[in-house]
Amino acid sequence: MSIPKPKPWIAGIEAYVPGKASTRSGRQPIKLSANESPLGPSPKAIAAMADIQGQAHRYPDPASTKLRHKIAERHGLDPERVVCGTGSDELLHLLAGGYATVGDEILYVRHGFSVYPIASHRVGATPIAAPDRNYRCDVDAVLQSVTPRTRVVFLANPNNPTGTYIDEGDVRRLHAGLRTDIVLVLDAAYAEYIDTPDYMCGLKLAKTESNVVTTRTFSKIYGLAAERVGWAYGPLPIIDILNRTRAPFNVCSTGQVGALAALDDQDWIARAKAHNDIWLKWLTAEINGLGNYGLAVVPSVCNFILVRFPQLGDCTAEAANTWLLEHDYIVRWLPGQGLGDCLRITVGTEDQCTGLVASLRMFLAQAKQ
Ligand SMILES: Cc1ncc(COP(=O)(O)O)c(C=O)c1O
Repeated sequence: MSIPKPKPWIAGIEAYVPGKASTRSGRQPIKLSANESPLGPSPKAIAAMADIQGQAHRYPDPASTKLRHKIAERHGLDPERVVCGTGSDELLHLLAGGYATVGDEILYVRHGFSVYPIASHRVGATPIAAPDRNYRCDVDAVLQSVTPRTRVVFLANPNNPTGTYIDEGDVRRLHAGLRTDIVLVLDAAYAEYIDTPDYMCGLKLAKTESNVVTTRTFSKIYGLAAERVGWAYGPLPIIDILNRTRAPFNVCSTGQVGALAALDDQDWIARAKAHNDIWLKWLTAEINGLGNYGLAVVPSVCNFILVRFPQLGDCTAEAANTWLLEHDYIVRWLPGQGLGDCLRITVGTEDQCTGLVASLRMFLAQAKQ
């Protein structure tokens, strides 16, 4: 009997591995595996979402009109050039599908966001990972990896899972070195966490260039990951392609009103940023302070850190991951992304950060014996 056969490029997809949400102990785990905001959403967003719970029988606004206008107002943009998505994930997939297919290549940076190769395979394109340098995008290596088949370049800036970024000069150099028929996608999911003056989030280029799109999300600093709201900004012809290919009612009503209210509560966002500034620095210093065990943190500008393990004896990232899971801390071990010697740890609340470091210290003490 013959059975339905998926396209070979679909069958070859290695499914996205989300951060774990539970441990074997069954106790309430401390989840530091998905770069979510430890402060949660603004109380104003929670209230706005609760207000419309009784309207679950109504379809949402298909065009996310109010939300797009609010985003445009906040960032000084043309609302017609904003498109909202079911998380920025949806928009990344649609960008791959809009511009690449079988025989084409989609370029990204090694140790880049794991959705890029999935989005590429899904449309039959070949994902090409350009070499990085010291866990950062190497612009020259990306440009050298461009071929006549390249259609899309994905750059997470700052990058997940490394936490690093490239500055405005490098982003401009990357753009200037690409053919104008290649779409440059600047994925700025963590833009709100970084405030160094040499950083450019992508909106500047997306405003003026015909082949640059930038994507943003409400899943990180805005604390609305469960609502699945993201957005993109770019030239009208590219936004038009996203509008034609997205699902008609892609952002749910609670997501739209929650994001709208969250945008209006910038005090909450400032609190989340201030919290992250303190605990990112603290976690980095504490874990670097465990340097006599050979641990090292890749300097991060995001709401997570990538910790490198020496991989000597029992002091491996895998063993630390197992230990932390047994002690109810869920972090992210990333062998599938060529980072089997690293753990990615999200900045949590004060108690979560101090507890995590105490547990890691215990792991190291017993691993050394
Ligand atoms: C770099 C990057 N881009 C995009 C996303 C997708 O976010 P969402 O689909 O929740 O908007 C993530 C989520 O982890 C991310 O790390």
